[in-house]
Amino acid sequence: MCGIIGFSGREQAAPILLDGLERMEYRGYDSAGIAVRSETKGLQVKKTKGRLRVLSDLTHGGADLEGTLGIGHTRWATHGEPNDINAHPHVSENGQIALVHNGIIENYLEIKEQLQRRGVTFTSDTDSEVVAQLLEYHYNECHNMLEAVGRVLRRIEGSYAFGIICSDFPNALIAARKDSPLILGYGENGNFIASDVTAIIKYTRDVVYMEDGEIAVVTPESIDVFDSEMNPLEKQHSQVDWDVSAAEKGGYAHFMFKEIMEQPEAIAKTVSPRIRDGRVVLDDITLTADYVRDISRIFIIACGSSYHVGMVSKYNWERLLRRPVQVDLASEFRYSDPLVDEKSLVVVISQSGETLDTMAAMREAKRRGARTLAVVNVVGSSIAREADDVLYTWAGPEIAVATTKAYSTQLVLMDLIGLYLADLLGTVEKSEYDAILAEVQVLPEKMSHFLEHFEDVQYFASRYFNHNSIFFIGRNLDYAMGLEGSLKLKEISYIHSEAYASGELKHGTISLIEPGTLVVALGTYAALFDKAMSNVVEVKARGAEVLAVTTETFKEKMEKTADSTIVVPDTHPILQPSLGVVPLQLFAYYVALQRGCDIDKPRNLAKSVTVE
Ligand code: M6R
Repeated sequence: MCGIIGFSGREQAAPILLDGLERMEYRGYDSAGIAVRSETKGLQVKKTKGRLRVLSDLTHGGADLEGTLGIGHTRWATHGEPNDINAHPHVSENGQIALVHNGIIENYLEIKEQLQRRGVTFTSDTDSEVVAQLLEYHYNECHNMLEAVGRVLRRIEGSYAFGIICSDFPNALIAARKDSPLILGYGENGNFIASDVTAIIKYTRDVVYMEDGEIAVVTPESIDVFDSEMNPLEKQHSQVDWDVSAAEKGGYAHFMFKEIMEQPEAIAKTVSPRIRDGRVVLDDITLTADYVRDISRIFIIACGSSYHVGMVSKYNWERLLRRPVQVDLASEFRYSDPLVDEKSLVVVISQSGETLDTMAAMREAKRRGARTLAVVNVVGSSIAREADDVLYTWAGPEIAVATTKAYSTQLVLMDLIGLYLADLLGTVEKSEYDAILAEVQVLPEKMSHFLEHFEDVQYFASRYFNHNSIFFIGRNLDYAMGLEGSLKLKEISYIHSEAYASGELKHGTISLIEPGTLVVALGTYAALFDKAMSNVVEVKARGAEVLAVTTETFKEKMEKTADSTIVVPDTHPILQPSLGVVPLQLFAYYVALQRGCDIDKPRNLAKSVTVE
């Protein structure tokens, strides 16, 4: 959620820290701060509420802080309101130690009270300051920074990624992680820590992923990693293959729009390497036909938009595999005493690969003996590393908080996995298999074609942007797609919106439809189009204004009833949500634009949700 960067090198640290924070600002952004150490000035800390621009102005682009060792942080408040004092870095009482933290320390109140009884004065409301003070306490006892960090880690409970500097510890920063991502980067002019690869990709592609319980000491020349018992570890290096420009706007006004436009290419990258000689080839996983035949239950677990992908996949997989597929919200699954065992296949979907609830749900499933398969975008992320099998969506870095291209690539990859499993089970006719594969391969082209004519959606957004409440209705795959359309709209435009299975309307929700209510009616699912139309007629009869999304096949019929109609190309029914969701993404984007919202960084949200 928050972003962490640290640098120990041969250049001034502050400008590098600010640059890295700017690239990570999408993760969390109610306040920001940096701490830099120099031989002559000791620890210097600047932090402030608000966007990074404010911090940059305050420090004259970092020029005010002298030193080649430093840590930085962008905050998404959990404990204590977003203000200057609660912003990170937090400094211990005697000013010796500065610390940045991602995560939540669960027993911080207990530790705080103990320290207060010993006379320590606290300035902030945060759990993170407690760690800085506790560190100072142990450092004063043992006079060894690394030893003090070890003692603190044994005392605290919860999740953390820490970056720590100490005025007595020249040129070295200390990092530690548990349940919150942290990577180490090897640069030419110094070495880094970061919570997110985008922060340091400008400086290095040579990284090491820290594991839970590890501690690292980063100096300009070296990085030493230790386990929790302080035994030195040999870590494997990874090369990041993302292009720096992929994490830049490249002339677009917003990352979200750029990422919507990148979808055809991202889908092609996800799909092409996995289709060979007319078959789906998933080289990266090891599920055998025998194993798949033996599976008694299939679960799909995720949060937010990834969960909506799971909803689409449930319909598609049940159709292809002729087996029950259960979709669960990770935050519910993990506490539900789930009926998962060695005969369960648990598929987790996560763009970031760091969503805490999804990770916890996956661990719970593994603990109960299930086999786990992760569909993840961020290479080397925690979920990717812990799952039994991982398949990457090759969407490239997604910066906008509202997911678009990651969602689309998850969707298509889940379709491929469904097809692959159905093939192993022999539950799909060859003609159906071939038809789906043929359509998957032309999906990017069809999507590009639609994206060339997005002005219709822009026009409808300008017509409807001032509605206060918007309903999305649809059946089957259209319902699952509506959930995503509704989430997209509410998260970036702040308009209240709900998605309903059309058939459910008359069981309560239809009482909310009154003259002028905007209903986005989804009619792309061919098998239930006529049923969906009846529901459109129902809401029209109550005075609703209907904006419909349908396919070329049903255009004429829909236009007779709906007030406005957006038409997407036809494809195989299983793949139709991949095309149908695009106008919903664009609609949310243009509505938010009309309403003057901060599209890439919507209020209260963060890109990767690493707290419960
Ligand atoms: O990284 P993940 O896919 O695990 O994230 C799950 C949700 O937090 C995410 O999809 C969220 O709902 C997006 N902001 C939606 O646009």
